[in-house]
Amino acid sequence: MALGGQLFARPGPGFFLCVYTAQMLWIKTLHIVFVASWFAGLFYLPRIFVNLAEVPPGSEAERQRLLTMARRLMRFTHLLMVPALALGIGLWAGYGIGWGPGQGWMHVKWLAVLLVLGYHHVCMRMLKRFERGENRRSEGWYRVFNEVPVLLMLLIVSLVVVKPTDWGGFLTDWLWGLLVLAVFGGLAWWRRR
Ligand code: HEM
Repeated sequence: MALGGQLFARPGPGFFLCVYTAQMLWIKTLHIVFVASWFAGLFYLPRIFVNLAEVPPGSEAERQRLLTMARRLMRFTHLLMVPALALGIGLWAGYGIGWGPGQGWMHVKWLAVLLVLGYHHVCMRMLKRFERGENRRSEGWYRVFNEVPVLLMLLIVSLVVVKPTDWGGFLTDWLWGLLVLAVFGGLAWWRRR
């Protein structure tokens, strides 16, 4: 597709008009790739915390091996976060996507992104606590903590894809989704016991 791009209009209460240029679509492609890679780190770090919390006292070599893995992954996750956010901000500020009336999805997305940043920060602090040998939490706690980025990613992706204007309907869909997740999660937990 040449730079001219195609016109994308969304009718209804959240009406907006946006030119989908090739350049913008490439930025969006890179945004999605970096976001997915950033989240891979956010999913895997707490898995290492689960293993760290399970290390028996005295197994110093194993503890150090896991700590090295976590440090490397944390560095890599930091690096991936920067282009993921910069490209997202570029799409928002440079192309005006999510601006104007009826674009509440973008406000909620900003809020969710702040929560993801908070989660990332908490992971950093947890790693420092493991390094100092001060962890008091169980492996089960870290397994539950591991589910938080899954929910945040689901929320953000559903916001950018659906771009809800009917918030009641969006919330109802979410409640049904959470119910299904709770049933499957409960079944998985029951089988593991
Ligand atoms: C500073 C943070 C971010 C900003 C400002 C931002 C902004 C944007 C904008 C403006 C778009 C274009 C939407 C469209 O074309 O309709 C977009 C697309 C997208 N964003 Fe972000 N984003 C950010 C972070 C994230 C994060 C953390 C995720 C994932 C968890 C994410 C996932 C996506 C996806 C999947 C798309 C493609 C949606 C589609 O084309 O259907 N973004 N983002």
